[in-house]
Amino acid sequence: MSLSISRIKKRILTFLQNRIYLNRNKKGISFLQNRISLNQNKNIFIDGYKVFSESGVTPQSAYYALINLYCLTNGKFNEDINRKIISFNPPLSIKNTRDEFFGKLDKADYEKINITLNNDGYYCFDKQLPAETCKKLYDYALKNQATGRGFDSKVLYNPNNPISEIYRYDFNMVDLINNEDIQQLIMNPALINVARNYLGCEPVFDFPGMWWSAGYKKEALSDSAQLYHFDMDRIKWLKIFFYINDVTPENGPHCYIKHSHKPGNKPMELLKRGYVRIPDEDLKKYYKQEDFIELCGDAGSIIAGDTKCWHKGKHLTKGHRLVMQLEYTSSLFGANYPKMVVKKSSDAFKEFCKNNSRYSSNIHFNN
Ligand SMILES: [Fe+2]
Repeated sequence: MSLSISRIKKRILTFLQNRIYLNRNKKGISFLQNRISLNQNKNIFIDGYKVFSESGVTPQSAYYALINLYCLTNGKFNEDINRKIISFNPPLSIKNTRDEFFGKLDKADYEKINITLNNDGYYCFDKQLPAETCKKLYDYALKNQATGRGFDSKVLYNPNNPISEIYRYDFNMVDLINNEDIQQLIMNPALINVARNYLGCEPVFDFPGMWWSAGYKKEALSDSAQLYHFDMDRIKWLKIFFYINDVTPENGPHCYIKHSHKPGNKPMELLKRGYVRIPDEDLKKYYKQEDFIELCGDAGSIIAGDTKCWHKGKHLTKGHRLVMQLEYTSSLFGANYPKMVVKKSSDAFKEFCKNNSRYSSNIHFNN
């Protein structure tokens, strides 16, 4: 089969964009931004978005262009493009909810949560996951294998003998989507309303995550997210974190720099470094002491967070931490994750996904 000249040109351009303009290093991905202009990045993004709209797959060059554009515009590009995306997908009106985890919440409650999220970049719920749910997830995490960062194969985490030198053991999202307790939370109407309000559209469920963080080496390392960084997997997203065991100043509380998710609120001097981890000392030059927030909490604590904020897990000096996370997004454009196939499901979850096809568009059933 012969390729047209224009397609060959396009392929060469994509190859060059990937090869020339990106510079991966151990601390993350830094971009040679002086080599590629704002407009060139926008063109790559627009071309890539068209490919994504047709195929559901984001070209790597377009994903990198998104990260470049975030850094070059100090977050303004994401806001502008998200406004366009959500204009095709307006949110349903917020209805009052009553559920087993959050009790009764009305429109005013959701508005209060959204104002705090928009202002601070995170929100701590006053309700907690029941002890029984935490115990079930904790037991699951002890009995099922996770991948220690830096290792190829999965292992059972042994609290008495952590082997990952970079502290972190990630559970596979495809395994987690088959956990019925997690499925229950994915269906939670209160969390969907929080995401709906924050994203300004009908949310898509992106993926579940869960990981152990353990103390092992003495210094914090970038690979385990124990140095400040911002996430940029999507154009706009919201994460809900659940502490499954008690989190104290010793075993890795989430740390956020308040307000730093807002467009224009990151120092351009730091964004020029690209998509990399930043040492505390560098950030302290730009932000007030009171904006460095450490979020401790009992098992069951629930935190909503926009991880465009500078954030990190504090280095553990004692014990371990188990966190579960759900991510909601306005669009799946961005990082390409493995296909989430459900092999084991409650009837309710199957029915729910069938009735909420946009929300569950990233979840696939085996039968
Ligand atoms: Fe992160």
